[in-house]
Amino acid sequence: MKTAVYPGSFDPLTYGHTHIIQRALPCCDKLILAIIDNPQKKSFFSHTQKLDLYKAYFSKEKKIEILTFSGLLVDFMQKIDASIVIRGLRNTVDFEYEKQMAVMNKKLYPQLETIFFMADPEYDIISSTLIKEILNLHGDISPFVPTEINIALKENLDHKQ
Ligand code: PNS
Repeated sequence: MKTAVYPGSFDPLTYGHTHIIQRALPCCDKLILAIIDNPQKKSFFSHTQKLDLYKAYFSKEKKIEILTFSGLLVDFMQKIDASIVIRGLRNTVDFEYEKQMAVMNKKLYPQLETIFFMADPEYDIISSTLIKEILNLHGDISPFVPTEINIALKENLDHKQ
């Protein structure tokens, strides 16, 4: 049973993420979307909101499981007995950061391998940070996030204002 873990903040989940997930699925038996729960980091959605939303969004895909984790990724990976990490790469800025994380994670947990998927050019301009900025300034984010996520984002924004 090949279990792969796609960790991240997913604040929010974008088409950039969902495209990586669709491409990673044929490479594993089970794909765990691992949402980091970091109370120090301010996020638009709470981790419980993300859990509920993304569970509903992927409910038809039996190979996908949604979990949250806190602390070190390598500790979480060992706890769930998984050794494959999936990450997407959009550009050289991502590469520098991701390379450092992948090598460090492997030092901490030598069985771990990180597999990178190069973002499709259609999605490589999408970043969760930009999505939140556009949303906060009432721009249209529908080309960048799934409809269900867009609806939840707008509801959250309305509650915050
Ligand atoms: O979506 P993001 O914010 O780019 O995801 C980053 C994430 C969650 C994958 C990374 O910050 C992480 O793995 N955090 C867990 C803490 C950890 O293990 N830090 C050491 C990394 S070498």
